[in-house]
This record gives sequence, structure tokens and C-alpha cells, in this order.
Amino acid sequence: MSELSYWENKWVGRPTEPANNFAKSAYALIRPKKLRSLLDLGCGDGRDSVYFSNKGLSVTAVDFADGGISKIELQSKKIKYISEDIRAINFRENSFDVIYAHLSLHYFNDETINKIFDNSFSILKKSGLFFIKCKSVDDALFGEGEKVGENMYRKGHVRHFFTKEYMTEKLKGFKIIRLRKTSSVYHEYKSSFIEAVATKLERS
Ligand SMILES: C[S@@+](CC[C@H](N)C(=O)[O-])C[C@H]1O[C@@H](n2cnc3c(N)ncnc32)[C@H](O)[C@@H]1O
Repeated sequence: MSELSYWENKWVGRPTEPANNFAKSAYALIRPKKLRSLLDLGCGDGRDSVYFSNKGLSVTAVDFADGGISKIELQSKKIKYISEDIRAINFRENSFDVIYAHLSLHYFNDETINKIFDNSFSILKKSGLFFIKCKSVDDALFGEGEKVGENMYRKGHVRHFFTKEYMTEKLKGFKIIRLRKTSSVYHEYKSSFIEAVATKLERS
């Protein structure tokens, strides 16, 4: 099954859940800075996009799985949604105050992740905020399935498990504001994550 078919099937017939806690903690940093425009990368069925939109942000939501993205229109008419691969998005420099990626950037090899982070740097406005949460090497699924690269395994679909050091390296063009490991119990197994918040300083 292709990566796209996996995600298309995942969203079908599944009720939309409430916003993630990561979105709520992101908004606590967005609000005092009065940031306005937000790009949700890999928005799924839009639960966090809808949350941010309801808080008054101007939201652009991107995902390549139409099964998820088609549910956004039913929840909100204000969100601009784009059916597109994250690897192919094409926005002008300095387009967004906030880029938000909840569990959507840990599916790619190192070269692609570098391109996505470079592109994110380019389209984020100066002093904007970049929120990223990825699975970590402490996750219960780490090591399960076929090994397809360093810290990468295919089980159903490919997952690239992050370390704090790896996230730090990927964010080297940004100023890191927060970087931490978190974990939660999800469907009876321990999910572990690396969460980061970074801001854009001008390149010297
Ligand atoms: C674990 S879900 C997270 C969805 C959403 N951010 C949330 O937290 O509810 C991962 C999402 O990333 C999307 N995704 C994975 N690879 C993608 C790609 N190459 N381009 C666009 N979206 C992608 C999937 O379609 C899926 O909706």
C-alpha cells in the first residue's frame, strides 16, 4: 500500500477528535505575539486547523490525503485548504507568521526533511514561530517493521524517529525556543515524541 493510500483510508469514517494539546500550548505562545497567519502542514482532518481558525487565525491547511482534508470544509468555511504533498508546497518567502506541524514531518528521509525545514524557513516570516512534534526513538514502535534508514522503519507506513540532537540539527537555521521529550499512552502503548518551538532569525 502506498503512503497516500494508507492515509486516505485512515480518515474515512473516522470521527474528528478535539484539538491536540500541542495546538493549545502553541496558541499560548501565538496569542501574546498577536500572530495572524498559520500554515498547518499535514493537517489530517483539520482538528487543529479548526481550533486555530476559531481563535481568529487565518489558517491554510495542507495535506495530501483528500479523505481528511474534505472534512475541513464541513467544519469551517474560513480555512483555506490545499490538497498537496508537503514536499511540493510552493509559497512565497515570508508568507506565514506561524508554521505548525503535528506528527506530519516524521515520514521522510533526511534529505527530504532538510528540504522541508529549509522551505519552512523561507516561507516563515521573520520572528514567526515554527511548531513541530515528531515521534522519538523512545516510542514503542521504534525498531518495529522493516528498517529502511537510520532511525527509520516501515510498518504500515514509514516512520522516521527523531532524537533531540536530530531535531536540533534540523533547526540549525532557526533559534530554538523550546525543545523537549514528551510521552503519552495511546491505544495502550507508549508514544514518545520530540516537540520543538523555534523562531526565525534573519540569516547573516
Ligand atoms: C498522524 S497524522 C496527523 C494529522 C494532524 N496533524 C493531526 O494531528 O490530527 C499525519 C498526517 O500527515 C499527512 N501526510 C503524511 N505525509 C504527507 C505528505 N507527503 N504530504 C502531505 N501530507 C502528508 C497524512 O495524510 C496525515 O493526515
